[in-house]
Amino acid sequence: MQSEYQHLIDLNDYPVSWWKRVVELGEEIRNDPDRFAHECDGKVMATLFYEPSTRTQMSFQTAMIRLGGKIIGFDNPMNSSVSKGETIKDTTKIVSSYADILVMRHPTAGAAMAAALTAECPVVNAGDGGHLHPTQTLTDLLTLKIEKKSLDGLTIGMCGDLMNGRTVHSLCKALSQMKGNRFIFISTPELRMPEYIRDIIKASGSTFEEVHTLEEVIGRLDVLYMTRIQEERFASKEEYLAQKNTYVLDRRKMQFARRDMIVMHPLPRVDEITDEVDNDPRAMYFRQAKYGVYVRMALILTLIKENRPFTLLRGKTYANVSCGNPKCITNHEHYLPKSFRYSGDETLLECEYCDERKLI
Ligand code: NCD
Repeated sequence: MQSEYQHLIDLNDYPVSWWKRVVELGEEIRNDPDRFAHECDGKVMATLFYEPSTRTQMSFQTAMIRLGGKIIGFDNPMNSSVSKGETIKDTTKIVSSYADILVMRHPTAGAAMAAALTAECPVVNAGDGGHLHPTQTLTDLLTLKIEKKSLDGLTIGMCGDLMNGRTVHSLCKALSQMKGNRFIFISTPELRMPEYIRDIIKASGSTFEEVHTLEEVIGRLDVLYMTRIQEERFASKEEYLAQKNTYVLDRRKMQFARRDMIVMHPLPRVDEITDEVDNDPRAMYFRQAKYGVYVRMALILTLIKENRPFTLLRGKTYANVSCGNPKCITNHEHYLPKSFRYSGDETLLECEYCDERKLI
Protein backbone atom coordinates (compact mmCIF):
# COMPACT_ATOMS: atom_id res chain seq x y z
CA MET A 1 0.00 0.00 0.00
CA GLN A 2 1.44 3.34 -1.07
CA SER A 3 1.17 6.44 1.14
CA GLU A 4 1.65 9.90 -0.36
CA TYR A 5 3.52 10.92 2.80
CA GLN A 6 6.86 9.91 4.25
CA HIS A 7 6.60 8.36 7.74
CA LEU A 8 8.96 7.16 10.44
CA ILE A 9 7.41 4.02 11.91
CA ASP A 10 10.54 1.86 12.19
CA LEU A 11 14.07 3.04 11.38
CA ASN A 12 14.67 -0.20 9.52
CA ASP A 13 12.24 0.98 6.82
CA TYR A 14 15.16 3.18 5.73
CA PRO A 15 18.71 2.39 4.69
CA VAL A 16 21.44 3.06 7.26
CA SER A 17 22.69 5.91 5.07
CA TRP A 18 19.39 7.76 5.74
CA TRP A 19 19.68 7.47 9.55
CA LYS A 20 23.28 8.59 9.35
CA ARG A 21 22.20 11.65 7.38
CA VAL A 22 19.56 12.54 10.01
CA VAL A 23 22.10 12.08 12.82
CA GLU A 24 24.69 14.19 10.96
CA LEU A 25 22.11 16.92 10.41
CA GLY A 26 21.35 16.72 14.16
CA GLU A 27 25.02 17.34 14.85
CA GLU A 28 25.10 20.28 12.44
CA ILE A 29 22.05 21.78 14.15
CA ARG A 30 23.67 21.31 17.57
CA ASN A 31 26.74 23.20 16.40
CA ASP A 32 24.76 26.11 14.92
CA PRO A 33 21.07 26.03 15.91
CA ASP A 34 20.42 29.65 14.85
CA ARG A 35 20.99 28.74 11.20
CA PHE A 36 17.85 26.56 11.34
CA ALA A 37 15.59 28.93 13.31
CA HIS A 38 13.21 29.69 10.41
CA GLU A 39 13.30 26.42 8.46
CA CYS A 40 9.75 25.53 9.52
CA ASP A 41 8.16 28.98 9.62
CA GLY A 42 4.42 28.58 9.07
CA LYS A 43 4.42 24.80 9.67
CA VAL A 44 2.32 23.02 12.29
CA MET A 45 3.21 19.87 14.19
CA ALA A 46 0.55 17.83 16.03
CA THR A 47 1.58 15.70 19.01
CA LEU A 48 -0.93 12.99 19.93
CA PHE A 49 0.27 11.41 23.17
CA TYR A 50 -2.01 8.62 24.38
CA GLU A 51 0.60 7.64 26.97
CA PRO A 52 2.60 9.73 29.49
CA SER A 53 5.81 11.37 28.31
CA THR A 54 8.10 14.17 29.40
CA ARG A 55 11.19 14.13 27.20
CA THR A 56 9.83 12.77 23.96
CA GLN A 57 6.84 15.08 23.85
CA MET A 58 8.59 18.21 25.04
CA SER A 59 11.70 17.64 22.95
CA PHE A 60 9.52 17.28 19.84
CA GLN A 61 7.62 20.43 20.75
CA THR A 62 10.84 22.32 21.48
CA ALA A 63 12.31 21.05 18.22
CA MET A 64 9.40 22.41 16.16
CA ILE A 65 9.35 25.73 18.01
CA ARG A 66 13.12 26.12 17.53
CA LEU A 67 12.61 25.55 13.80
CA GLY A 68 10.08 28.38 13.72
CA GLY A 69 6.96 26.19 13.57
CA LYS A 70 3.94 25.92 15.86
CA ILE A 71 2.38 23.01 17.77
CA ILE A 72 -1.05 21.57 18.51
CA GLY A 73 -2.11 18.31 20.16
CA PHE A 74 -3.05 16.51 23.35
CA ASP A 75 -1.12 14.73 26.09
CA ASN A 76 -4.17 13.31 27.78
CA PRO A 77 -6.49 11.52 25.36
CA MET A 78 -9.25 11.72 27.97
CA ASN A 79 -9.52 15.44 27.17
CA SER A 80 -10.09 14.63 23.49
CA SER A 81 -12.76 12.73 21.58
CA VAL A 82 -10.77 9.56 22.22
CA SER A 83 -12.69 9.46 25.52
CA LYS A 84 -15.89 9.22 23.45
CA GLY A 85 -14.56 6.15 21.64
CA GLU A 86 -13.06 7.76 18.55
CA THR A 87 -10.78 5.39 16.59
CA ILE A 88 -7.15 6.10 15.68
CA LYS A 89 -8.32 6.18 12.09
CA ASP A 90 -10.72 9.09 12.60
CA THR A 91 -8.54 11.05 15.03
CA THR A 92 -5.56 10.75 12.68
CA LYS A 93 -7.55 11.60 9.59
CA ILE A 94 -8.77 14.86 11.10
CA VAL A 95 -5.69 15.98 13.03
CA SER A 96 -3.36 15.21 10.12
CA SER A 97 -5.47 17.49 7.93
CA TYR A 98 -4.68 20.34 10.39
CA ALA A 99 -0.93 19.66 10.56
CA ASP A 100 2.22 19.25 8.44
CA ILE A 101 3.62 16.46 10.62
CA LEU A 102 2.02 14.26 13.28
CA VAL A 103 3.88 12.67 16.20
CA MET A 104 2.13 9.84 18.02
CA ARG A 105 2.77 7.88 21.18
CA HIS A 106 0.39 5.05 22.04
CA PRO A 107 0.32 2.13 24.50
CA THR A 108 -0.43 -0.42 21.76
CA ALA A 109 2.12 -2.01 19.41
CA GLY A 110 1.63 -1.01 15.77
CA ALA A 111 -0.42 2.12 16.55
CA ALA A 112 1.82 4.44 14.51
CA MET A 113 1.49 2.13 11.52
CA ALA A 114 -2.30 2.22 11.95
CA ALA A 115 -2.19 6.04 12.04
CA ALA A 116 -0.03 6.26 8.93
CA LEU A 117 -2.61 4.28 6.96
CA THR A 118 -5.05 7.19 7.05
CA ALA A 119 -2.85 10.21 7.77
CA GLU A 120 -2.68 13.15 5.39
CA CYS A 121 0.81 14.16 6.53
CA PRO A 122 3.98 12.36 7.71
CA VAL A 123 3.54 10.32 10.92
CA VAL A 124 6.33 9.77 13.44
CA ASN A 125 6.26 6.86 15.87
CA ALA A 126 7.11 8.31 19.29
CA GLY A 127 6.72 4.89 20.96
CA ASP A 128 4.14 2.19 20.27
CA GLY A 129 3.62 0.10 23.41
CA GLY A 130 6.54 -2.19 24.19
CA HIS A 131 7.38 -2.41 20.48
CA LEU A 132 9.59 0.38 19.05
CA HIS A 133 10.83 3.90 19.74
CA PRO A 134 12.80 5.00 16.67
CA THR A 135 13.29 8.65 17.66
CA GLN A 136 14.86 7.61 20.96
CA THR A 137 17.22 5.54 18.84
CA LEU A 138 18.13 8.56 16.72
CA THR A 139 18.83 10.37 20.01
CA ASP A 140 20.97 7.45 21.17
CA LEU A 141 22.88 7.35 17.87
CA LEU A 142 23.63 11.08 18.07
CA THR A 143 24.82 10.58 21.67
CA LEU A 144 27.15 7.74 20.62
CA LYS A 145 28.44 9.75 17.68
CA ILE A 146 29.27 12.75 19.85
CA GLU A 147 30.43 10.95 22.99
CA LYS A 148 32.07 7.78 21.59
CA LYS A 149 32.92 9.20 18.14
CA SER A 150 31.66 6.00 16.49
CA LEU A 151 28.62 3.85 15.84
CA ASP A 152 30.71 0.77 15.00
CA GLY A 153 32.86 -1.71 16.89
CA LEU A 154 31.25 -1.03 20.27
CA THR A 155 30.54 -3.42 23.15
CA ILE A 156 27.13 -2.37 24.39
CA GLY A 157 25.61 -3.69 27.59
CA MET A 158 21.83 -3.35 27.87
CA CYS A 159 20.44 -3.85 31.31
CA GLY A 160 16.99 -4.13 32.90
CA ASP A 161 13.64 -4.74 31.24
CA LEU A 162 14.76 -5.96 27.84
CA MET A 163 11.44 -7.70 27.24
CA ASN A 164 9.20 -4.62 27.45
CA GLY A 165 11.66 -1.79 26.82
CA ARG A 166 10.94 -0.41 23.35
CA THR A 167 14.05 1.79 23.38
CA VAL A 168 16.41 -1.19 23.52
CA HIS A 169 14.47 -3.02 20.79
CA SER A 170 14.88 -0.12 18.38
CA LEU A 171 18.49 0.46 19.39
CA CYS A 172 19.46 -3.20 18.85
CA LYS A 173 17.83 -3.19 15.43
CA ALA A 174 19.82 -0.10 14.51
CA LEU A 175 23.23 -0.95 15.98
CA SER A 176 23.15 -4.45 14.52
CA GLN A 177 23.13 -2.80 11.08
CA MET A 178 26.48 -1.08 11.83
CA LYS A 179 29.84 -2.81 11.73
CA GLY A 180 31.25 -5.01 14.47
CA ASN A 181 28.99 -4.17 17.40
CA ARG A 182 28.75 -6.69 20.25
CA PHE A 183 25.76 -6.80 22.57
CA ILE A 184 25.66 -8.02 26.14
CA PHE A 185 22.13 -8.40 27.49
CA ILE A 186 21.87 -8.20 31.27
CA SER A 187 18.44 -9.24 32.52
CA THR A 188 16.50 -11.80 34.49
CA PRO A 189 15.25 -14.80 32.45
CA GLU A 190 11.69 -13.37 32.60
CA LEU A 191 12.73 -10.05 31.05
CA ARG A 192 15.18 -11.28 28.42
CA MET A 193 15.40 -9.69 24.97
CA PRO A 194 12.55 -10.96 22.71
CA GLU A 195 13.38 -13.73 20.30
CA TYR A 196 12.67 -11.67 17.17
CA ILE A 197 15.29 -9.09 18.20
CA ARG A 198 17.83 -11.84 18.97
CA ASP A 199 17.14 -13.29 15.52
CA ILE A 200 17.66 -9.92 13.84
CA ILE A 201 21.05 -9.61 15.56
CA LYS A 202 22.06 -13.13 14.53
CA ALA A 203 21.03 -12.50 10.92
CA SER A 204 23.05 -9.26 10.85
CA GLY A 205 26.29 -11.01 11.82
CA SER A 206 26.63 -9.05 15.09
CA THR A 207 27.04 -11.08 18.26
CA PHE A 208 25.25 -11.10 21.59
CA GLU A 209 25.52 -12.83 24.93
CA GLU A 210 23.06 -12.99 27.79
CA VAL A 211 24.05 -12.72 31.45
CA HIS A 212 22.23 -12.19 34.73
CA THR A 213 24.49 -9.82 36.65
CA LEU A 214 25.95 -6.42 35.88
CA GLU A 215 29.09 -7.07 37.94
CA GLU A 216 30.32 -9.90 35.70
CA VAL A 217 30.42 -7.74 32.53
CA ILE A 218 30.63 -4.06 33.47
CA GLY A 219 34.42 -3.98 33.06
CA ARG A 220 34.15 -5.01 29.38
CA LEU A 221 31.68 -2.37 28.22
CA ASP A 222 32.08 0.74 26.05
CA VAL A 223 28.47 1.67 26.69
CA LEU A 224 26.09 0.68 29.48
CA TYR A 225 22.45 1.32 28.50
CA MET A 226 20.30 1.11 31.62
CA THR A 227 16.52 0.78 31.41
CA ARG A 228 13.56 1.08 33.75
CA ILE A 229 11.44 -1.95 34.65
CA GLN A 230 8.29 -1.08 32.67
CA GLU A 231 5.70 -1.38 35.44
CA GLU A 232 2.79 -0.41 33.17
CA ARG A 233 3.43 -3.36 30.83
CA PHE A 234 3.17 -6.09 33.51
CA ALA A 235 0.03 -8.18 33.90
CA SER A 236 0.08 -7.81 37.72
CA LYS A 237 1.70 -5.76 40.47
CA GLU A 238 3.22 -8.97 41.94
CA GLU A 239 5.07 -9.74 38.70
CA TYR A 240 6.44 -6.20 38.65
CA LEU A 241 7.52 -6.29 42.31
CA ALA A 242 9.37 -9.56 41.69
CA GLN A 243 11.56 -7.75 39.10
CA LYS A 244 11.90 -4.33 40.70
CA ASN A 245 15.35 -3.39 42.06
CA THR A 246 17.13 -6.37 40.50
CA TYR A 247 19.66 -4.09 38.80
CA VAL A 248 20.85 -0.92 40.46
CA LEU A 249 23.86 0.96 39.13
CA ASP A 250 25.68 2.70 41.96
CA ARG A 251 29.08 4.26 42.64
CA ARG A 252 30.51 0.94 43.81
CA LYS A 253 29.71 -0.82 40.53
CA MET A 254 30.98 2.17 38.53
CA GLN A 255 34.44 1.53 40.05
CA PHE A 256 34.68 -1.65 37.99
CA ALA A 257 33.76 0.09 34.72
CA ARG A 258 36.30 1.41 32.23
CA ARG A 259 37.26 5.05 32.47
CA ASP A 260 35.85 5.69 29.00
CA MET A 261 32.61 3.72 29.39
CA ILE A 262 29.49 5.89 29.10
CA VAL A 263 26.22 5.31 30.93
CA MET A 264 23.08 5.96 28.88
CA HIS A 265 19.43 5.78 29.91
CA PRO A 266 16.38 6.94 27.93
CA LEU A 267 14.88 8.22 31.22
CA PRO A 268 12.73 8.35 33.28
CA ARG A 269 14.80 6.47 35.81
CA VAL A 270 13.07 5.04 38.83
CA ASP A 271 15.69 3.43 41.05
CA GLU A 272 18.00 1.64 38.61
CA ILE A 273 20.70 4.36 38.79
CA THR A 274 21.44 5.95 42.15
CA ASP A 275 21.72 9.75 42.31
CA GLU A 276 25.38 9.53 43.30
CA VAL A 277 26.22 8.31 39.76
CA ASP A 278 24.93 11.60 38.28
CA ASN A 279 28.17 13.41 39.13
CA ASP A 280 30.35 10.77 37.49
CA PRO A 281 31.69 12.20 34.19
CA ARG A 282 30.70 8.95 32.50
CA ALA A 283 27.00 9.55 33.25
CA MET A 284 25.61 10.69 29.91
CA TYR A 285 21.86 10.44 30.38
CA PHE A 286 21.05 14.12 30.94
CA ARG A 287 23.15 15.17 27.95
CA GLN A 288 21.51 12.37 25.93
CA ALA A 289 18.06 13.88 26.65
CA LYS A 290 19.30 17.25 25.42
CA TYR A 291 20.66 15.79 22.19
CA GLY A 292 17.12 14.51 21.55
CA VAL A 293 16.00 18.03 20.63
CA TYR A 294 18.65 18.43 17.90
CA VAL A 295 18.02 15.08 16.32
CA ARG A 296 14.25 15.62 16.38
CA MET A 297 14.79 18.98 14.68
CA ALA A 298 16.76 17.09 12.03
CA LEU A 299 14.02 14.50 11.66
CA ILE A 300 11.18 17.04 11.35
CA LEU A 301 13.15 18.91 8.69
CA THR A 302 13.99 15.74 6.80
CA LEU A 303 10.44 14.38 6.72
CA ILE A 304 8.83 17.71 5.82
CA LYS A 305 11.39 18.56 3.13
CA GLU A 306 11.93 15.12 1.59
CA ASN A 307 8.33 13.95 1.79
CA ARG A 308 8.73 11.04 -0.62
CA PRO A 309 5.97 8.46 -1.17
CA PHE A 310 6.24 5.64 1.34
CA THR A 311 5.19 1.99 1.19
CA LEU A 312 3.06 0.74 4.08
CA LEU A 313 1.99 -2.89 4.50
CA ARG A 314 3.97 -4.83 1.93
CA GLY A 315 2.58 -8.20 3.08
CA LYS A 316 -0.75 -10.00 2.66
CA THR A 317 -3.93 -10.77 4.57
CA TYR A 318 -4.87 -14.43 5.05
CA ALA A 319 -8.43 -15.69 5.49
CA ASN A 320 -9.27 -16.07 9.20
CA VAL A 321 -5.72 -15.29 10.40
CA SER A 322 -5.30 -12.58 13.01
CA CYS A 323 -2.33 -11.55 15.17
CA GLY A 324 -1.88 -13.58 18.38
CA ASN A 325 -0.46 -10.64 20.35
CA PRO A 326 -3.19 -9.18 22.60
CA LYS A 327 -1.17 -5.93 22.73
CA CYS A 328 -1.23 -5.54 18.92
CA ILE A 329 -3.29 -2.66 17.54
CA THR A 330 -5.08 -5.01 15.10
CA ASN A 331 -6.75 -6.65 18.11
CA HIS A 332 -8.06 -3.27 19.31
CA GLU A 333 -8.98 -1.38 16.14
CA HIS A 334 -10.86 -4.00 14.18
CA TYR A 335 -11.18 -2.20 10.83
CA LEU A 336 -7.42 -2.55 10.22
CA PRO A 337 -6.32 -5.00 7.51
CA LYS A 338 -4.56 -7.88 9.35
CA SER A 339 -1.46 -7.90 7.23
CA PHE A 340 1.45 -10.33 7.60
CA ARG A 341 4.82 -10.53 5.96
CA TYR A 342 6.10 -13.89 4.89
CA SER A 343 9.07 -14.87 7.04
CA GLY A 344 10.68 -17.27 4.56
CA ASP A 345 9.16 -20.28 6.30
CA GLU A 346 5.79 -21.34 4.85
CA THR A 347 4.19 -21.91 8.24
CA LEU A 348 5.46 -18.77 9.93
CA LEU A 349 3.94 -15.32 9.41
CA GLU A 350 4.99 -12.03 10.97
CA CYS A 351 2.48 -9.34 11.87
CA GLU A 352 3.33 -6.15 10.01
CA TYR A 353 2.16 -3.96 12.86
CA CYS A 354 3.85 -5.53 15.92
CA ASP A 355 6.32 -8.11 14.45
CA GLU A 356 4.76 -10.93 16.49
CA ARG A 357 5.20 -14.29 14.78
CA LYS A 358 2.42 -16.69 14.13
CA LEU A 359 2.48 -20.36 13.15
CA ILE A 360 -0.23 -21.33 10.67
C1 NCD B 1 11.23 5.74 27.31
C2 NCD B 1 9.92 5.33 26.70
O1 NCD B 1 8.92 6.03 26.82
O2 NCD B 1 9.94 4.27 26.09
N1 NCD B 1 11.32 7.09 27.63
C3 NCD B 1 11.58 8.00 26.64
O3 NCD B 1 10.91 8.07 25.65
N2 NCD B 1 12.66 8.77 26.80
C4 NCD B 1 11.70 4.86 28.38
C5 NCD B 1 10.79 4.46 29.49
O4 NCD B 1 9.64 4.88 29.59
O5 NCD B 1 11.25 3.67 30.32
